[in-house]
Amino acid sequence: MKLVKDIKQPDTQVLEITPDVKWVGVIDYDIVTFDVVMETEYGTTYNSYFIDADKKALVETSKEKFWDVYLAKLIQVTNPAELEYIILNHTEPDHSGNLANLLELAPEATVVGTRLAISYLKDFLGKDFRHMIVKDGDTLSLGNKTLRFIGAANLHWPDSMYTYLEEDKLLFTCDSFGCHYAHPEMIDNKVGDFSDAFKYYFDVILKPFSKFLLKAIEKIRPLEINAVLTGHGPLLLHDWKKWVDLSENYAKEAVQTPQKDHVFIPYVSAYHNTGIMAEAIRDGILSVGEFTVEVADIETMPLGDVDERVAKSSAIIVGCPTINQNILLPIYKLFAVISPIRDNRKIGGSFGSYGWSGEAGKLINSTLGNLKLDVQGDGVFIKFTPHEDEYRLCYEYGKQIADKMLASKL
Ligand code: FEO
Repeated sequence: MKLVKDIKQPDTQVLEITPDVKWVGVIDYDIVTFDVVMETEYGTTYNSYFIDADKKALVETSKEKFWDVYLAKLIQVTNPAELEYIILNHTEPDHSGNLANLLELAPEATVVGTRLAISYLKDFLGKDFRHMIVKDGDTLSLGNKTLRFIGAANLHWPDSMYTYLEEDKLLFTCDSFGCHYAHPEMIDNKVGDFSDAFKYYFDVILKPFSKFLLKAIEKIRPLEINAVLTGHGPLLLHDWKKWVDLSENYAKEAVQTPQKDHVFIPYVSAYHNTGIMAEAIRDGILSVGEFTVEVADIETMPLGDVDERVAKSSAIIVGCPTINQNILLPIYKLFAVISPIRDNRKIGGSFGSYGWSGEAGKLINSTLGNLKLDVQGDGVFIKFTPHEDEYRLCYEYGKQIADKMLASKL
């Protein structure tokens, strides 16, 4: 790899990956959060690649806000009007945001994507355009080079696919194997340690789709690959296998089926009244049979640890006091990691102590239901301190949960 053009500002760089393939992406150092859901402390990049074949092609575009920077890069490598194909492996606007601008300069270019990608792009652009729908195994001749398309749906939208440039042995994967990490050097062995950013990106963006990622990795294993070129973060030119292997390991851990007999009882508690209720529910569950139950005050528990516990459990029984007619922030964060894709049909439940009014029950139960858990009754909510009668209520509720779990196993 050599730097083709290194003007002082790093974001005017164009990088040569092979003599015919160049990175024309954009570095965004200033982004604070991505997709609202994740913090981007290391910034990010919107990677786009120009293929200088007989028929010129572009893989991914970039975020619309960076059109000026992006265009300045593009015209360093080609006349945009000469582009014949624009391949979009995934249509989220951080990759497709400049398609409309580009098509104004290259109105004859054909946009290539999956059926869903083309459909989404029509909605984004509000009009039709010259396009080609491709599916797994299809190829596209660029004259002296060939693109092969690999079905890789749900990574992390249903529209996604990978593109393999046969002659250069380059695999374009968009969000897969990417991360939010900005560094002017851009190359995996020159940007320092980005493993934290890689893991965080996997956890937030790809983890819920781990079974799809494993299928995609299985498909790319037979390919001869020189580099994996992602949509975000460093270009994996030197050690792509390390990052694909790591992703495979993360995904395998994530798809472990929940333990049939395992219950997670996350709670928060101002004066341990809700905590006592959690223990009573646990005792009720254990009185029924061979279950494992983890009771945890999650007020200060890292969200990743909460997520791991949710993932491995078959029942999630949530405890929270009602304070000012609301539930508390750690419980809202818990809801953020419960995935309707991964956790649907798990048994859900609720409990808590309250003083003046008891809105927590409705808030917890309706949210768990909306997240597609199988919510058991109205839960147990008691005024202030649990005494013997209230302990018994919680204990019986635990038994009810356990009975439901036994019935679900039949
Ligand atoms: Fe980087 Fe799903 O967009």
